[in-house]
Amino acid sequence: MSGAQAKAAVICGCVGVFAEVSGDALWKRHAQGWLVEVASDLDALISRIRKFRRERKAVSIGYVGNVVDVWERLVLEYETSGDLLVELGSDQTSCHNPFLGGYCPVQLTYDESRSMMHDDPEKFKDLVQQSLRQQVAAINKLAAAGMHFWDYGNAFLLEASRAGADILKEGGSSTRSRFRYPSYVEDIMGDIFSLGFGPFRWVCASADPADLDVTDAIATSVLEELLNTDVADVVKEQYTDNMRWIKEAGRHQMVVGSQARILYSDQKGRIAIALAFNTAVANGKLKGPVVLSRDHHDVSGTDSPFRETANVYDGSALCADMAVQNVIGDSFRGATWVALHNGGGVGWGEVTNGGFGLLLDGSEDAAKRARTMLAWDVSNGVARRAWSGNNNAEDSVRRAMADDTALHVTMPHHVTDKSVLEAALSRR
Ligand SMILES: NC(=O)c1ccc[n+]([C@@H]2O[C@H](COP(=O)([O-])OP(=O)(O)OC[C@H]3O[C@@H](n4cnc5c(N)ncnc54)[C@H](O)[C@@H]3O)[C@@H](O)[C@H]2O)c1
Repeated sequence: MSGAQAKAAVICGCVGVFAEVSGDALWKRHAQGWLVEVASDLDALISRIRKFRRERKAVSIGYVGNVVDVWERLVLEYETSGDLLVELGSDQTSCHNPFLGGYCPVQLTYDESRSMMHDDPEKFKDLVQQSLRQQVAAINKLAAAGMHFWDYGNAFLLEASRAGADILKEGGSSTRSRFRYPSYVEDIMGDIFSLGFGPFRWVCASADPADLDVTDAIATSVLEELLNTDVADVVKEQYTDNMRWIKEAGRHQMVVGSQARILYSDQKGRIAIALAFNTAVANGKLKGPVVLSRDHHDVSGTDSPFRETANVYDGSALCADMAVQNVIGDSFRGATWVALHNGGGVGWGEVTNGGFGLLLDGSEDAAKRARTMLAWDVSNGVARRAWSGNNNAEDSVRRAMADDTALHVTMPHHVTDKSVLEAALSRR
């Protein structure tokens, strides 16, 4: 299990509950400080949830066991006491790979599941699908009682639908409206990829925590400067949220291995931060070079109709050419390395992802590469979203062209006769 959600729950002021079938994985996250406390049976878990809700205390509680048991116990609590103990819910099993270790069915222990997936894969698949149906039945009851559920980006809705779970929306047909529950891209993150915002990240090659502190401070001052320029309100909101994050990130001790940081940023912010880091490497303020990168879960890097491109509504969400074109463009424009792969997050055949690394060694050349490559790496996906009819993306492209007169993006022609659009939508 990843510990990020446990930290996020506490940062956001929630009582967060995280079920994990592997005791080793759970205790490791606890020892690393990502998880505040651990409950090893359901009675203890429920009494801790009730206590912290009463005290309105932000905390993360790990439960060693199967998540299906937790969902079903939450249903029982609701049915017997009328108390809905969960307002927000999602699933974070590795459902992109459900039959080879990503999902442990409720009928088996963790160890039994590890053996059966190899010894009797057919039976294992049956149990996984049965468990998914059982899990969805419990989730549906809690959702009917008022819980808000969304797909975490792990192909849970997709796999549950393949298992025959009651997860499809009546009358829904496209990727947009197929399921009862939304994808987190549409529901939680909003339209940020159209604004060019995505998880930009960097690693301090010196491996020195002091260097990471310096980069946090540099990124904060760059965002402060950008906030004082003439930026659209919708962009200002993003800078303000992300400034809050980067100011607090150090104190939440998120680093496990590399001295690395993620900061959601747009094209302007990414380039300004990269240039400021490069200057700091050149003048010795940073002890070593910085490697820039980003998550594949970003504006231009990924074609995935169930995640990153779930909100591209013109039918092109099912194409995989943006990720390929993007990685090639990055390589021409100065990336130190690029990678193109398949399956990230939602599974093989469902997604194409591209990524890059860009070394900032303090040289003039590195600054030039950062300017040209990062501009492409963001504008490419924003342009694609503009062509699909997204107004935020169209505004972002216009702003990018005003900032950089060398950038020419063909602008889309809008349908003026609304009846044509209505006819197209009614066919979905
Ligand atoms: N939305 C995003 O930005 C985003 C980011 C990272 C990962 N993901 C996706 O989320 C999923 C999880 O990612 P991860 O890095 O935490 O993976 P992970 O494999 O480290 O963790 C998943 C955990 O689920 C546990 N598990 C499996 N079945 C269970 C069950 N029935 N009950 C309780 N625990 C169970 C496994 O033991 C495992 O430790 C993946 O599909 C990944 O692609 C999404």
